[in-house]
Amino acid sequence: MDRIITSEKTTEDIFDKNIRPDSLEEYVGQEEIKENLKVFIKAAQMRNEPLDHVLLYGPPGLGKTTLAHIIANELGSNLKTASGPSIEKSGDLAAVLSNLEPGDVLFVDEIHRIPKFIEEILYPAMEDFELDIVIGSEGKSRNIKIDLPPFTLVGATTRAGDISSPLRDRFGIVSKLNYYSTEELKQIVLRTSRVLDMNIDEDAALELAKRSRKTPRVANRLFKRVRDFALVEGEGYIDLDITLKSLDRLKVDPYGLDGIDLEYLNALIYKFNKGPVGVETIATSIGEEVSTIEDVVEPFLLQEGFVKRTKSGRIVTEKALELVGGKEGSIWE
Ligand SMILES: Nc1ncnc2c1ncn2[C@@H]1O[C@H](COP(=O)(O)OP(=O)(O)OP(=O)(O)O)[C@@H](O)[C@H]1O
Ligand SMILES: [Mg+2]
Repeated sequence: MDRIITSEKTTEDIFDKNIRPDSLEEYVGQEEIKENLKVFIKAAQMRNEPLDHVLLYGPPGLGKTTLAHIIANELGSNLKTASGPSIEKSGDLAAVLSNLEPGDVLFVDEIHRIPKFIEEILYPAMEDFELDIVIGSEGKSRNIKIDLPPFTLVGATTRAGDISSPLRDRFGIVSKLNYYSTEELKQIVLRTSRVLDMNIDEDAALELAKRSRKTPRVANRLFKRVRDFALVEGEGYIDLDITLKSLDRLKVDPYGLDGIDLEYLNALIYKFNKGPVGVETIATSIGEEVSTIEDVVEPFLLQEGFVKRTKSGRIVTEKALELVGGKEGSIWE
């Protein structure tokens, strides 16, 4: 079973289209990004030009894909999508690009996973709306240039550091999504409650917000599970009582920590004597990819003050020691 608190996508989230906001107005939080986008979108429309290319980055579940859809909506444009891992040959990217129509928004998810040699096709496409491709076989090959319609590329990634600088430089708008405040998450929970037509009390919404790992995806997922309990075992609406009972049954941590977070902290404390220790070493010891640790686990632990980054490696804080020390038993069992 998928862990409920994970901020990474699970199969159920794919059916989430109805709870996804579709305008900037309805998109909660990320105020600075929204204000800027409003201006850039309006200016592009006044000049009758496509919006500059946009790069969105940040941890999973904070609303990058949602924002890409919203950008297309606000522009009144069609959204076409592709994803880094599905682009394996230069022909794959050429096919996507040559399929664009004037004013389209092309959303490329996980853009850091486009192979470097294919990335180069994107440079002239982004800069001059030109597709340079080589046709014919070796010996007889020649380059041809095809004009592309003006379009906006919206790239999303959890790994800004993995994007080569020539590619990054071709985005006019680069925005980092931040973790959400408790108040913002509460607003998201209340909104989801309206969309799914299931009432929730304010104090219950606040409790869900606090346990959501500062992440809208987690907030929505918790809402849905608590809704199930309220329907079957409660009064048909969500109050604090059924919320606390459900969260307990779901074993949701009060801090919003999930299984990998706890494994990471346990390893750091017990295997590596509280640090300092390198991220690669921790990753190997708990059987996770370094990228998962750096992009998914650490941003939250750093932000919440459970871990610190030093020159000689990661160290735990008092807060983490109190938390893990206070847990019954070891999570290694
Ligand atoms: N600002 C927001 N306001 C309201 N709901 C939001 C907001 N951001 C995200 N959500 C909700 O959270 C869910 C996850 O968001 P989304 O899929 O856009 O995240 P993501 O950043 O693309 O994640 P990943 O990196 O895993 O692709 C969406 O289904 C949406 O309902
Ligand atoms: Mg996404």
